[in-house]
Amino acid sequence: MDLAKQNGAAKAGGLDGVVVADTALSEVDGERGRLVVAGHDIEALAGRVGFEDLCGLLWTGAAPDAATRRAIGQALAEGRALAFEQIPALGEALVAEDGSAALMACVAHFGARAAWRAEGAAPWTELGRVTGAVATFAAAWARRRAGGQPIAPDVSLGHAADYLRMVRGEVAPEAAARALDAYLVTVADHGMNASTFTARVVASTGSDLVSAIVAATGALKGPLHGGAPGPVLDMLDAIGEPGRAGAWIAAELAAGRRIMGMGHRIYRVRDPRAAVLERALGELERGGSVGARLALARATERAAEALLAERHPDRPLKANVEFYTAVLLDAVGLPRELFTPTFAVGRAAGWSAHVQEQRRAGRLIRPASRYVGPVPA
Ligand code: COA
Repeated sequence: MDLAKQNGAAKAGGLDGVVVADTALSEVDGERGRLVVAGHDIEALAGRVGFEDLCGLLWTGAAPDAATRRAIGQALAEGRALAFEQIPALGEALVAEDGSAALMACVAHFGARAAWRAEGAAPWTELGRVTGAVATFAAAWARRRAGGQPIAPDVSLGHAADYLRMVRGEVAPEAAARALDAYLVTVADHGMNASTFTARVVASTGSDLVSAIVAATGALKGPLHGGAPGPVLDMLDAIGEPGRAGAWIAAELAAGRRIMGMGHRIYRVRDPRAAVLERALGELERGGSVGARLALARATERAAEALLAERHPDRPLKANVEFYTAVLLDAVGLPRELFTPTFAVGRAAGWSAHVQEQRRAGRLIRPASRYVGPVPA
């Protein structure tokens, strides 16, 4: 089967534009800079509804009523608690140098436990428990890395607030928890990106949810996907003050290096999630903590956009989600090596939803390749 012909949009040698699934979960319009998640513009969701509501929207297809929202919050909390119980049996899984690698190992262990399965319960109970577990493991890895002990979840808290508490070791200010909640909602789902495709491929083979989340985490951690926000913060540190942004960016480009947090495969305008995160940061600033970093980020974005436009006049390269992710996650008190695992904490909601949708589709994803090797005479 010639997928390129079938879809009419594939670039030679790539999968760009090839339709691999029908989805009701999210749609990215790269020309207009619009992200629709389950029927809602991202601007109407981030900072307006909580992560639990967003999970409800993705997992049930409708905005959850109060009872469903509570039940989803409970499934997430159960996942956090079950994961915490498992920590003593994780062996070396938590001591990996890289947080995403630790997450993959821990979540794989979680899959070996029967307790997370929820036979007879609502389908999203399983999705909630696995999504919840990701937060506990990410936080536990950060605690160990900082020389401390993992902190038990507080199941009475919302997911974002409890994640922040498990990382920081104390209840975070409400404004910080709200900003993190807005971040988790912003990144929960984003069309057929590389990690979501990975999750769907795994699910399409009839494999389990945990395997799909582990594989997707592996896809997410690459610097061209979810691995960029830590380097964005390194960049801002290296630039130091707004007046130095232009010279620094120009030197990087002259050295042939890419500017992290800029450019996107799909968006030809500014990533709408950058604006949503900037708005959440603005609200956090009113609570008193961000200031200089946000000003530096804005100056750096302006300089990068202008210099990239000079260099690539035909290819708009603007800020992507990772740019303001770096500023926001730093502002709420997360260490930069935890940025990519934190992306997974939010995206696990979308991955789970796609696994559920793929299961319903019930069809093996089996793309084609173009053979360019030799043929025996
Ligand atoms: N900095 C400098 N140049 C960039 C760039 C960036 N961030 N992003 C793209 N370019 C350049 C490429 O070098 C290429 O130039 P060339 O034609 O002279 O070789 C041109 O723009 C087209 O890039 P291309 O590789 O076709 O874009 P892509 O669609 O494959 O890349 C990204 C998309 C996201 C991988 C890319 O923009 C990137 O690497 N960004 C930095 C990493 C990042 O922020 N990742 C998070 C993504 S959400």
